[in-house]
Amino acid sequence: MTTKYHFDVLIIGSGAAGLTHALHLADHAQVAILSKGQLEEGASLYAQGGISVVLDQADSLQSHIDDTLLAGAGLCDQEAVSYTVKHARESIEWLIEQGVSFTKDGITSETYHLTQEGGHSHRRIIHSADATGREVETTLLAKVKAHPNIHLFPHHIGIDLITSRKQLGQEENTCLGCYVLDIKNDTPRTFTAPITVLATGGAGKVYLYTSNPDVSTGDGIAMGWRAGCRVANMEFIQFHPTCLFHPKAKSFLISEALRGEGAKLILANGAPFMDQYHPQAELAPRDIVARAIDHEMKRLGDDCVYLDISHQPKDFITEHFPTIYQRCLTFGIDITKEPIPVVPAAHYTCGGLMTNLDGQTDISGLYAIGETAHTGLHGANRMASNSLLECLVFARSAAQKITQLLPQLNTELPMISPWDASRVKPAKEAISISHNWDELRRFMWDYVGIVRSNERLHKARQRLTLLQQEIDDYYSQHRISSDLLELRNLADVAELIITSALERKESRGLHYILDYPELSKMQAKDTILEKKY
Ligand code: FAD
Ligand code: SIN
Repeated sequence: MTTKYHFDVLIIGSGAAGLTHALHLADHAQVAILSKGQLEEGASLYAQGGISVVLDQADSLQSHIDDTLLAGAGLCDQEAVSYTVKHARESIEWLIEQGVSFTKDGITSETYHLTQEGGHSHRRIIHSADATGREVETTLLAKVKAHPNIHLFPHHIGIDLITSRKQLGQEENTCLGCYVLDIKNDTPRTFTAPITVLATGGAGKVYLYTSNPDVSTGDGIAMGWRAGCRVANMEFIQFHPTCLFHPKAKSFLISEALRGEGAKLILANGAPFMDQYHPQAELAPRDIVARAIDHEMKRLGDDCVYLDISHQPKDFITEHFPTIYQRCLTFGIDITKEPIPVVPAAHYTCGGLMTNLDGQTDISGLYAIGETAHTGLHGANRMASNSLLECLVFARSAAQKITQLLPQLNTELPMISPWDASRVKPAKEAISISHNWDELRRFMWDYVGIVRSNERLHKARQRLTLLQQEIDDYYSQHRISSDLLELRNLADVAELIITSALERKESRGLHYILDYPELSKMQAKDTILEKKY
């Protein structure tokens, strides 16, 4: 069947993963990219620190592998780690071929400045000053816009995947496309394709305080889960240690690269504290730094701690961190002269839809790449700047696999029922949706945050159960809106996080629980959740 919205490959998400994937495919296939907001909007645009890659003579692939495994606290998939690290250099070379400009080291015209971040034992982060994501996203987007085989659909939000199991009652589950809400026209549409790729990013918005943009509501993870994909390791939510603490600064990150260039974490009285927590002090893995800050804030009853880079020369700071310098200045903070008030905030979703090295999920014809996926690279704690790398490496491997498969695929899909809105009424007052958004994000922050306990997790589960009943009732009776779809997805993601956290009866990596404060060798395995039918 051919509809107006039929493509060879349907990519949901236009961040670093989705755009890279599209560019690798577009000479071989008709590709659609959906994005629920503006095309450039997503976590990729805001990435600051950079992308890890071994370029320094004194560094080695083995060292990058070892650091990743160590940060991952025993849960990384060794094959995924080696695969990623070994494909890093070609991924960066590809970006440079696309026109991405990285900061040079000033020693030769060919060599790049490398910075260092937590967990890395060498300088190996290539970057574009402190706005690496913006440089990557805008360069790739310009390429995508110029390609005749790529069809762009901004302001289109995926509602649910269309699967043979649900549509045709088949035992074997194949993805046939996605129901989509065209937000500007308030119209549901049916997009079909033999291959669908979820590149929808992470789920930071499930927490009250997050570095993530508004689009990071875990939609791909929730859609894949509802369609029948297994989901792994959702308890491992990474909290970035240093987001700007200011009432008007919505989710602004202060890059770890500042600590790589010598910034110290200090208390309100000026005393440094990280030496007491880890031999690598400010450059310890993120989970340790975030917990140390949380502990100090709770111990002293303080609202924030401070990050001080003012000992570096002004020129150095403004050259390396122009975005952070300017942004802080708009809030009256001159980082060349004074410390920056910072707090931890939810930053990265280590778990996600389980995939193999080609990005294939459990459902035939469905792929997941980028932060939505669980490839096994990050284990129990992602090392800084390995995420954009994962987007690039797996977007490419998935494209290679799909290009191989395309000639054999049956592009004649079965008849698919259109979205049925005949039994729903217009949405009621928006307050019931916005109230539930706030409530969910607050109890996730209070009860499922940096330090957890069984009691808090059970409290969160009780509240979520009530909320989910309300959301399900509302969803079945009212016309959909993007706020409602996101709320439903956030609730599903919250359930996956709480369930996984309750299953892990130890503290490991990003999951710290007071009832089991030690790591248990017996529990060195992934938390895998599978929906029962
Ligand atoms: P995103 O870039 O988040 O893109 C998701 C896309 O999916 C968007 O286009 C969105 O509109 C779309 N989408 C979502 N749901 C739907 C739906 N239902 N329907 C249609 N479209 C949908 N990592 C590093 O390696 N180095 C860094 O320096 C770094 N810095 C960071 C700084 C910040 C502030 C943040 C938030 C993250 C940072 N990270 C960094 C992490 C990294 O940026 C992300 O993991 C990565 O960019 C994710 O890319 P993505 O393509 O998977 O998703
Ligand atoms: C940062 O710049 O601190 C973010 C890096 C990352 O999340 O990988």
